[in-house]
Amino acid sequence: MNAAANANSIEDLRRLAKRRLPRAVFDFFDGGAEDEWTLRENRSAFSRHALRPRVLVDVTTVDCKTSIVGAPSALPIAVAPTGAVGFGWPGGDVAIAKAAAAAGIPYALSTSATTSIETIAREAPGRLWFQAYVLRDREFLESLIARAEAAGYEGLMITVDLPVGGKRERDFRNDFSIPFRFTPKNVVDFALHPRWVARVLRSGMPRLENLAGLAPGRGSAAVSAIASSVGKNYDAGFDWSRLAAMRERWKRKLIVKGIAHPDDAARLAELGVDAIVVSNHGGRQLDGGAATLDLLPDIVAAVGGRVPVLVDGGVRRGADIVKARALGAQAVLVGRATLFGAVAAGEPGAQRAIAILHDEVSRTLRLCGLTRFDAIGADLLAR
Ligand code: FNR
Repeated sequence: MNAAANANSIEDLRRLAKRRLPRAVFDFFDGGAEDEWTLRENRSAFSRHALRPRVLVDVTTVDCKTSIVGAPSALPIAVAPTGAVGFGWPGGDVAIAKAAAAAGIPYALSTSATTSIETIAREAPGRLWFQAYVLRDREFLESLIARAEAAGYEGLMITVDLPVGGKRERDFRNDFSIPFRFTPKNVVDFALHPRWVARVLRSGMPRLENLAGLAPGRGSAAVSAIASSVGKNYDAGFDWSRLAAMRERWKRKLIVKGIAHPDDAARLAELGVDAIVVSNHGGRQLDGGAATLDLLPDIVAAVGGRVPVLVDGGVRRGADIVKARALGAQAVLVGRATLFGAVAAGEPGAQRAIAILHDEVSRTLRLCGLTRFDAIGADLLAR
């Protein structure tokens, strides 16, 4: 049975996920850093902008397609990389990737995914981007990039807002870490969710597949210990010169994710990257960082059309996507929206998440008197 069939909003999928999952696992997906101020701000920022619809337009048909990073996309949405999805639903990465391919939108696979680079390429041949964290072990990082290249990935996405891990206190409170540790605190939590336990046990404990085999002695013991110790294995020394070398090495699309400052965005445009993602990691890294939607206009101005600007953080409604475009984003990335769908109900859940957003974007456009997503302009926002 498709448990997500009756979900009418992303929030419905979130509630479903919350019921299904042990609290520790749900909180890992749902939570942010420290006081979660930035997490909330990402959402609040959308409510600080209001739409100003036009009427008396023939909106019998509507077209949601657009270009994302130089190629067509059926919707103005790409799937953001999210790690550890398999702990919520075995095979969850494949579920989301297949849903994205079927919907005709790009999908980014996380370094910390529970499915390998090659499996995703085989199971979900669509527009694929590989998200690389800058690991301290440079050889290992290069091997991941070479694998993505060999598997035909269209883009490499470098995430730059995680030089060190954010302080995610829900994970501390819940004793959540990967690999799992059973502690007196969380064992009761798992016992209260026998269906989740049975599903995970049937499929075997998920692994961070792309990090398997990271050479011992170079921090591999800590590599999979994301969550409460997130970031231990990342290279805090990664800087502009290393990014320039990455640009030299990767000839396909290079997307840099985690940009907040217009000067950084302008420098990236000069460096010749193919896209910039305004992102604060969904509020999971720097708490106190501004909402991404608030940062967007200055970054769009700084880049001056040289490079497409994408944005993520808090996108839960079609109207959010319309507002992001009106503020200059080419498209949005969604992290938790498809994640909640997948961990609530597997592939049909991920499909449902995309279908809900599709329906809401087209409905919002028509209610705004627009027949094409690409016709959105700044004029759509109330002053
Ligand atoms: C993330 N995010 C993330 N980003 C990244 O570059 N690599 C990663 O492995 C992860 N992992 C991850 C796990 C989970 C559970 C979440 C919720 C997020 C950040 C993600 O790509 C994106 O920036 C945010 O999720 C966007 O915010 P929303 O859409 O979740 O509000």
